[in-house]
Amino acid sequence: TLRCERVLQLTLAVIKPDAVAHPLILETLHQKILENNFIVVRKKDLWWRRKDSESFYAEHSGRFFYQRLVEFMSRQGPMIIIYIPCLLYSGPMRAYILAREDAVAHWRELMGPTKVYRARYTAPNSVRALYGLTDTRNTTHGSDSTESAKREIAFFFPEFSVQQWLDKEEQRFR
Ligand code: PPS
Repeated sequence: TLRCERVLQLTLAVIKPDAVAHPLILETLHQKILENNFIVVRKKDLWWRRKDSESFYAEHSGRFFYQRLVEFMSRQGPMIIIYIPCLLYSGPMRAYILAREDAVAHWRELMGPTKVYRARYTAPNSVRALYGLTDTRNTTHGSDSTESAKREIAFFFPEFSVQQWLDKEEQRFR
């Protein structure tokens, strides 16, 4: 007998503040997700506090770009200043849990290399090459393995259980 096997994988994809700030880029990236046959499992717009940003990027805490990265990904000061555009250093981001075969690698391939100049030379059609501005304002983030996807999904969506979702999907196709 023939059995149709679908091995789904989950990944965490983030549209960073530079891309969320531009409605056309945000919409283009959302369409790209759909065109690439990702299932949008969860989607959330959010604005990090500095401590969220620091803990998410803790592994980079010794790097020269750490402060820059942390500040770009979080809001500074009290809520009141976020409505004064000239003081606005950053903005909200959008997080997705995406499912697909080979979701982790596929999303990373769509993003292209971290560094925008390298992306423009080596992957000119990638998201970062097309829409990225700098190594900090590089439009997107994606988990780099299934283990980090699990950890990052828990960070953004604490109420979501990766294992439960995968088990349920497997039962549906059994
Ligand atoms: S590296 O250099 O290979 O470790 O870079 P990588 O692990 O891909 O990057 C980790 C995150 O740090 C950001 N990054 C930078 N920000 C500012 N300036 C510079 N030079 C820089 N280099 C890397 C990069 O955007 C990665 O963010 P995420 O959100 O993980 O994609």
